[in-house]
Amino acid sequence: MKALILAGGLGTRLRPLTMRMPKPLVPLLGKPLISHIIDPLPAEVDTVILAVSYMKDALEEYFRSHDVGRKVILANEDTPLGTGGAVKNVSRYLDDTFIAFNGDVICSIDLNDMLRYHRTHGGIGTMSLWKVEDPSAFGVVSTDARGLITEFQEKPERDKAVSNSINAGVYIFEKEILEHIPNGVVSLERQVFPNVLDRGLYGYGFSGYWVDGGTRENILKAQRVLLDLGGGKEAPELIKEDATICGSNMLQKAHIRGCRIGPHVYMEDDVLVSKGAEVADSMLLRGALIEEGARVRGSIIGPDCVVEKGRKVINEILARQ
Ligand code: GDD
Ligand code: MG
Repeated sequence: MKALILAGGLGTRLRPLTMRMPKPLVPLLGKPLISHIIDPLPAEVDTVILAVSYMKDALEEYFRSHDVGRKVILANEDTPLGTGGAVKNVSRYLDDTFIAFNGDVICSIDLNDMLRYHRTHGGIGTMSLWKVEDPSAFGVVSTDARGLITEFQEKPERDKAVSNSINAGVYIFEKEILEHIPNGVVSLERQVFPNVLDRGLYGYGFSGYWVDGGTRENILKAQRVLLDLGGGKEAPELIKEDATICGSNMLQKAHIRGCRIGPHVYMEDDVLVSKGAEVADSMLLRGALIEEGARVRGSIIGPDCVVEKGRKVINEILARQ
């Protein structure tokens, strides 16, 4: 079975971090976002197709140097074709039933269970559903008693939304979906889903956690969720001198000195946090330097970035451009 990951977005909401690093490679607790999708794929998935258009070289380099245990095909779009165009563009690789993902979704969905659901319900596809308070930033569905989606709205105004069940961005499709995607730049959500409801598009709800990792707030939220689920650890090479560590964190081969760290901090190799500094709810990437008395909260500090002495960085992304 094939799995297709839509990973061609520009990652604009994670700039400036994504000026040098494509969104799929942004590290979430020590592994790239994309690996959080690839690793839990069902055993029957032998090939992963990545539909990309932005920073393809960096992704190619990643997969050349990391064996993810499955065949990986990188399918490039010279210009972004939209979510639907991206699926159509890889038609030649697809056969029978396939799984498709929005590449920025981090969630606890059980794909084997979703496949069973899809196979028993039949239909052209199954869409994962998640409940939120305000659905206006998402695709919104209404379903009938059998789970059949009867209406799909992409990013409706809040008072026009038909429910609070949203498209969680994980799909199982039959190959027949390709016949309903025109050529060119096409949005699955706006131009395809509303037109295939009569072919049987089912909704599959799940529980646990779900985060769209497209923003700083959400990536840090995913980091909090995974740390609280037991993802915290300290590398044996971590150098601690008089540092106070609170709550759950993942600290790699860093050096922390006379500072306060946590909760919910991810720190990569060669990070240095100096005396009197405080870091919480943040991601400090390789080589970041936090100088004396600085405060970092709700932020992502990119590779080799410096937070100068006494500076406060609250709810920001700092990265070299
Ligand atoms: N290959 C390719 N080409 N991928 C693309 C393109 C493109 O032109 N445009 C977007 N993508 C990828 C993005 O990289 C992302 O992984 C995924 O498709 C979804 O695009 P976003 O830009 O992140 O969409 P969104 O978050 O506003 O909305 C989508 O996701 C929501 C759930 O997070 C929609 O599918 C909504 O219906 C859904 O609720
Ligand atoms: Mg998104």
